Amino acid sequence: MDAGALKNEALGAIEAASTPGELDELRVRYLGRKSELKQALRAVRDRETGMALNEARVAIEDAVDVRQSSLERAELDRNLTQDVVDVTLPGEELPLGGLHPITQVRRIVEDAFLGLGYEVRDDREVETVEYNFDKLAFAPTHSARSSRDTFFFDDTHVLRTETSPSQIHVLEEKAPPIYMVSIGRVYRRDAITATRYPIFHQFEGLAVDKSLTLADLKGTLLHVMRALYGPERRVRFRTHFFPFTEPSIEPDVSCGICGGEGCRTCKYSGWIEMGGAGMVDPRVFENVGLDPEEWSGFAFGCGLERAAQLRHDVPDIRVLWEGDLRALRQF
Ligand code: DAH
Repeated sequence: MDAGALKNEALGAIEAASTPGELDELRVRYLGRKSELKQALRAVRDRETGMALNEARVAIEDAVDVRQSSLERAELDRNLTQDVVDVTLPGEELPLGGLHPITQVRRIVEDAFLGLGYEVRDDREVETVEYNFDKLAFAPTHSARSSRDTFFFDDTHVLRTETSPSQIHVLEEKAPPIYMVSIGRVYRRDAITATRYPIFHQFEGLAVDKSLTLADLKGTLLHVMRALYGPERRVRFRTHFFPFTEPSIEPDVSCGICGGEGCRTCKYSGWIEMGGAGMVDPRVFENVGLDPEEWSGFAFGCGLERAAQLRHDVPDIRVLWEGDLRALRQF
């Protein structure tokens, strides 16, 4: 077949192709490596035949391109008019993660103190005996110093037994006035039961300024307890002893479950123990080189697990540590 006849046949077929698939077959048939045209081009001996064949090739290629875009456009038009999307159908539901109850109460505490202008810190969990006990004025014979109560790495390093060493770190790092709260894990060698776990969380507060009083401490604790347990809470203090505060107190918050009437959660007393607190002992100021005549301060340390348990009605502390999703999903 000469070039002109070949071209006419191909252009006719291409014009008649009605689907992209058909067009593809035609492209192979007329332009493919084994096509009559390509074989003729390979066998060309004279210039005139070569030019005619090349002109046919270009015309066929153009025709394929033109036909292809018009077929594609037609297909798109058809899809747009025929395919219907029901935008009212519900989407696929993605499983949402939730915050662990401890994280929830941790954030409440952080927000409450940020609102009072406190700095929020996160301190080390491996402490030296010096910071965990000595600088906090623990007596040399204090039972917490024994390896029965405390996890020791060696003679001088422990897993901190409380967040109170943060007080020393911040006092050594910056000059007063200081308003800080430090939140994190603490460790004690307790057997695991429904109410005790060898790891738990505390938040530690320290305020150092001129002429702070017990009234400032009470107001501060009331603020955070209301944030944790509701706006109606009352706070009361019982006297106590801690090596690093004088006087020392234990704050109780009125039970938010029964409103102070007495229930199982508060062991029918109407009150829930929150932790320890007091006015910073002059020896602590001296240990960090501050003049106790010039500066005054208060400190407090409270557990987070109790707060998470009360807010979410979790009777067994182990639930908070075992990471069982079937239980945690409920909070
Ligand atoms: N660290 C004490 C504990 O774990 C709690 C505590 C008591 C913290 C008095 C304080 C404080 O900051 O002033 O039992």
